[in-house]
Amino acid sequence: MSALSATVAFNWPDFLGPFHVIMLHYPIGFLSLAALLELWAIRRPSEPARRAVGYTLGLSVVVAWLATGLGLLRALHGEFDGQMLTMHKFSGIAVSVLATLTWVLHRRLYPDPERVLVRRTYRGLLAASLGCLLLAGHQGGTLTHGSKFLTAGAPHSMENLMGVAEAAPPAPSVPQDGDTYSTSIQPLLERKCIACHGPEKQKGHLRLDQRESALAAGDSGAQAIVPGDPMRSQLVKLILLPRNHDDVMPPDGKEPLTAEEQVALVHWVQSGASFGNTPSPVPASPFPH
Ligand code: HEC
Repeated sequence: MSALSATVAFNWPDFLGPFHVIMLHYPIGFLSLAALLELWAIRRPSEPARRAVGYTLGLSVVVAWLATGLGLLRALHGEFDGQMLTMHKFSGIAVSVLATLTWVLHRRLYPDPERVLVRRTYRGLLAASLGCLLLAGHQGGTLTHGSKFLTAGAPHSMENLMGVAEAAPPAPSVPQDGDTYSTSIQPLLERKCIACHGPEKQKGHLRLDQRESALAAGDSGAQAIVPGDPMRSQLVKLILLPRNHDDVMPPDGKEPLTAEEQVALVHWVQSGASFGNTPSPVPASPFPH
């Protein structure tokens, strides 16, 4: 038995899940076709037209449920998560449910096409299926290709139309005032830098616990901190170097900065490198938008 379970390590969801990406095109095609045929049948009502609609709807139901099932398997894989996935699951299942109801109503309507209420409900459901399909497709596309996929190549005028014009960058989550220094920057420097750049030692002739000395040039001749201009600040350059670089700070062998700490330092320099009470000499954002 144990030999068997070793060979059965094969994982069905991992194998089948990706087929969702192929299967999903069928409900898109068939449901759209059903709607087009319905439009045609409205203009030229006939027995064959109704049959064609019913047949296409039936196919839509089958492929919609297949795509939904495969999609749920794919979701198990854990490659995606979050709110977008949840919404995509709901809209995907909704497509299958609505398509099924549409098909059922169409069958009930079939013997007697003149029943107005059933006909209206049926057409409403067909429209709702298509709406959900559009939504599910869009959400699925966003999951796999990112939200800018469709609009990445659009000309600027078009971006405005499509409602994707670059919004102002969100305000940084760290408060950009003197408090940031005492609550996050100072403790960070204490932990990772002050042992070598503080009152006791000033490696590279740099002292980072006072504004004047931190803004001055060290041995390299480059200014460690240029308030408001991270890209010209030697400190920022050195903390962003790859870990195996000779000049990286903190040096090799010392506990490296985490990504959050790097970001916090860059933000802090960009927003003027305030050292507590000392007012920041530059406006918060030096870059024109
Ligand atoms: C273990 C000691 C040590 C620690 C910890 C350390 N440094 Fe350094 N740092 C050095 C040494 C040594 C130099 C001089 C390197 C040289 O001249 O080649 C230096 C140089 C620098 C310089 C360049 C100064 C100049 O102009 O030459 C900057 C900026 C700097 N460190 C920033 C930092 C920051 C920011 C941290 C904390 C995140 C940090 N260092 C942590 C040892 C340290």
